[in-house]
Amino acid sequence: MIDIHAHVLWGVDDGPKELARSIKMLDLAREDDIDTLFTTSHYSPDLPGKLPEKLAELTPYAKERGIQLISGSEIDYVHLAGTRPLPTLGKSKFILVDMRQPFLEMSAPHVLSQLSLDGYNVIIAHPERLFMEPDLRTVHTLLELDCLFQLNASSIAGRHGAHSQNIAFKIIRSGLAHYVGSDAHSLHRPFYMTTARKMVKDKFGEDVAQLLFEENASQLIAGNAPFKVTPPKRKWWQLFG
Ligand SMILES: [Fe+2]
Repeated sequence: MIDIHAHVLWGVDDGPKELARSIKMLDLAREDDIDTLFTTSHYSPDLPGKLPEKLAELTPYAKERGIQLISGSEIDYVHLAGTRPLPTLGKSKFILVDMRQPFLEMSAPHVLSQLSLDGYNVIIAHPERLFMEPDLRTVHTLLELDCLFQLNASSIAGRHGAHSQNIAFKIIRSGLAHYVGSDAHSLHRPFYMTTARKMVKDKFGEDVAQLLFEENASQLIAGNAPFKVTPPKRKWWQLFG
């Protein structure tokens, strides 16, 4: 699997504190069947200089475990308007954005439209943890602003409660999800990708699981837009399950 959202670099954000823990996280990633991992530490203006060094230091340990590391960042909404260039996922024009608040700032339509004009493709991280309206109103608004959506494997696995899990399933069922990533931060907040993939497969079928956990991220690495993920319609007798 390809994980487009993980905090595995040490000492740069609220992820692992030491190299030894980063290496243990790689062991967990391997056990979780992850072969490609984007190192998406939280962006801050003083970080970009440090990240390549840390990535280079961790890369041999990842290789030993059969994992390819790709550079990235998770960018807080507050940095979107004033920062150019923005750190992208690998060599693509995709950026991973944490909206931070459970509502959209007044400035969001302008800021997000400007990103499109500047050639960036915005992926909103974990909408199911922020925008929990039953009608997915904010998710639909963001979709109209050309945003893509990455769900957390931990939400799908139920680690943040039934409500965000249900919203995650609803986003998938509505054809609005594009990627699943882990947002792993530590040995105690690990990947959950295998668990989540099995749940998605059981609920929506193998094709949907493959698009969300592998194929769309693979397209991203190639610089391409994701495929739309449209789960098959449920039969009437499944509606009560
Ligand atoms: Fe994150």
